[in-house]
Amino acid sequence: MHKLRINGRTQPVTASPETPVLWVLRDELDMTGTRFGCGLGLCGACTIHLNGEAVRSCCIPVSAVEDNEITTVEAMGASVIGREIQKAWLEHEVPQCGYCQSGQMMSAMALLMKNTRPSDQDIDHAMNGNICRCGTYIQIREAIHAAAAALRKS
Ligand code: FES
Ligand code: FES
Repeated sequence: MHKLRINGRTQPVTASPETPVLWVLRDELDMTGTRFGCGLGLCGACTIHLNGEAVRSCCIPVSAVEDNEITTVEAMGASVIGREIQKAWLEHEVPQCGYCQSGQMMSAMALLMKNTRPSDQDIDHAMNGNICRCGTYIQIREAIHAAAAALRKS
């Protein structure tokens, strides 16, 4: 039995210690907003926050995250930054098929938690490793700039 802190709540989970956090979220806790893409740490579809840093949940065993703060896409709407990202994503019509987008938004959120005036280079660096088969990279960059501008005004 492990006790995880997820989106501000303590959740007991019964998965074996080596189970990746991704599968605990999806299979045991029914939190399916975090996506499975490659399972190898290469695509970013499974991005969550661990203590405010964007990490790939497919590569982290559940035993390594006890006593850490996990945030998933399900909690995005609970923060001002998350809400501004959601708004900008809609206004810039970012999602195409949508499959990669929860991971993209979590990486964008981790960036804007640290830097509300990111350059294109900062954005490309933060989003490096979040792959989109639909090629939404230009819209993602525009949406991050828009969310950052809104945060600077708030
Ligand atoms: S599913 Fe985790 S990086 Fe691809
Ligand atoms: S929106 Fe389709 S993979 Fe990114």
